[in-house]
Formats: sequence, structure tokens, C-alpha cells
Amino acid sequence: MLERLESLLAEALEGIEGAATAADVDQATGRFLGKKGAVQEVLRSIGKLAPEERGPVGKKANEVKTAIERAAGLRRDALIAAAEAELGETEWVDTTMPPPPGYSVDRTGGTIHPVTQVVRELEDVCVGMGLDLLDGPWIEDDEHNFGMLNIPPDHPARDMHDTFWLSDGNLLRTHTSPVQIRAMESGPPPIRAVAIGRVFRHEEVDITHENTFHQIEGFYVDREVSVGHMIYVLQTLLENVLGEKVDVRLRPSYFPFVEPGFEMDVRFQGDWMELLGCGLVHPRVLRAGGIDPDVWSGFAFGLGVDRLVMLRHDIEDIRHLMSGDLRFLRQFREGVEG
Ligand code: DAH
Repeated sequence: MLERLESLLAEALEGIEGAATAADVDQATGRFLGKKGAVQEVLRSIGKLAPEERGPVGKKANEVKTAIERAAGLRRDALIAAAEAELGETEWVDTTMPPPPGYSVDRTGGTIHPVTQVVRELEDVCVGMGLDLLDGPWIEDDEHNFGMLNIPPDHPARDMHDTFWLSDGNLLRTHTSPVQIRAMESGPPPIRAVAIGRVFRHEEVDITHENTFHQIEGFYVDREVSVGHMIYVLQTLLENVLGEKVDVRLRPSYFPFVEPGFEMDVRFQGDWMELLGCGLVHPRVLRAGGIDPDVWSGFAFGLGVDRLVMLRHDIEDIRHLMSGDLRFLRQFREGVEG
């Protein structure tokens, strides 16, 4: 029996050594260690041996088993490492290679996304007006998105923000207003800035609602800032973006982070349109940012970029914008530079 085990071991090692792939290794060991494998069979038959033989044969069988497992493990690791090393040689793509005959290829190149086109224009206009471009994280904490903007936990304004909460208690920002707080945290006034970027709401998606869209936030803090300054800056910004002189009007409205708060309408191509929220920065917001509201004052505004894109191109369904559908995107070639 001991000799049989020795020869099983030799046979198994030979099989493992000759294996060309990790799967071959498993197959080679299976013949010996599997449920019906030869070594298992020896172990199972020990009960039938003479009592004095049982100990030595059991011990030997277990040694053989361990030796086979070790050899198989080493061989498997070596084969996997070799296969991975070879990937660099075999798995690469020659991007200059012409496509096979009959393959249709779009040779006209890519386009700049219509939202990106408008974002870039907005950035140019804002920089031209002397405003700084700020950025903020998509993942925000409760305080920046709500608390420091004068929206406490039990405040009804939170109902307007269907929020994507993350398991760690953070959230996907529901508006660009948290950048106001980050602006105040990054340095003392005067602050003359805008932030343009993605925002997220847990919305029932339809032709006018998306779960992912874009806003531009303005934040202007200086001495003796008035509603007059706000109207001037917004009107200039809108005229630059819409490409024509526009009338604007304010209607009183409520946002927790401004006082007084307004909605601004703009008359574009004859029709009055509700376009954005704005107001004078609430003293509590200034205080949350470490700014003394008796010395400084400011205005803020926020508007949806996607609305502007839809207006410009007469797009009827907001869902097209984030769809990634090439049939839609290819229509916006005219704005592509270079
Ligand atoms: N954060 C608001 C929203 O997403 C928009 C807004 C309104 C921003 C008024 C402002 C503001 O800065 O003053 O609905």
C-alpha cells in the first residue's frame, strides 16, 4: 500500500508538471484528490487493512495528499502569472489599423456635447465679466448642501430636494448652492464667483425632469451689494448667453438662503419665461461662512443650464441630454471647435 501511494504521488506530480493551463492542473489533481480520486480511495479503504498497517498508511496517504496540493498550487500560480505576463504581448489593439472591409466607420469625428458647449460659453462670459470659476464636489455633506444654507433638518424646503442619500450619510448635491459655502471657506471677501456643474435629484424622470442635470450658481459678496447690482450682472450675463438684448423682471419668491428672494423672468423672443432663482445672501448664510453680515452683503443666483440648452436648440425632452444617444448628439456639430 505504501508503495502504491509513492507511485500515485509520482504519477500526480508528473501530471501537474505537464499541465499547460491552470484548468489542466485542476484536472490532473482531480484524478488523485477528487471524491473518486485514487488517493481518496486509499484513505477510504484504510478500515479494511490490518490494524498495524492502518497508522502508517493513513499517515503516508495524508503526506501524499499534501504534497500533491502543494505542487498543484505552485504550478497553478506559475501558469496564471505566465498567462498574465503574456497578455501585454497578445492583448493590444492597433488603433491605426484600417477596419475590415464592409465595416462602417464614422469618419467625421466626435462632437462637443451640447451641454458642454453652453457650459463653455457661460464660463467665457463669466470670466469676461471678471468672475472666478469655482468647482465643488458632487458628493456633499448634509451641512454644505442644506444646513449652512439655512435649510435645517426639519425645514420644509428640504421637501423640494428629492435627495440621493449615500449609505455613509453623505449625499449627491441637489444644487450648486453648496459651492457658496465652499467659496466662503476658501477665503475672505470680496467674492465674485460662479460655479457650473452637475446636480442630482431623485426625480420621477419625464420630459422636463431628469435625475442628473446642470446648474450655474452665482455668488457675489462685497460691501454694500444691492439688488441693483444683482439685476445688472444677471441681465448682462443673460444677454451674452442668449445673444440678444433681453428684458428681465423680478417676482418675489422664497429660497431659505436668500432674503429677499426672487425669481427672475426674462423676455426672450417675445415671451416672458421664468428662468432662475436669486436674492440677497441671507445673513445666516454669511455667518455660517464666517463672514460678518454687518460689514458684508451679497447676492446669489442659480439657474438650470439644461433649460438654456433646450431653449437654444428647441429640444422638447430633457432626457435626450444625458442619453448618450449618438443619433441625438450628432446633430450638434456646428459648435465644435477645430
Ligand atoms: N439652489 C436653488 C435650486 O436648486 C436655486 C437658487 C435659488 C440658487 C436662489 C440661488 C438662489 O443662489 O439665490 O433650486
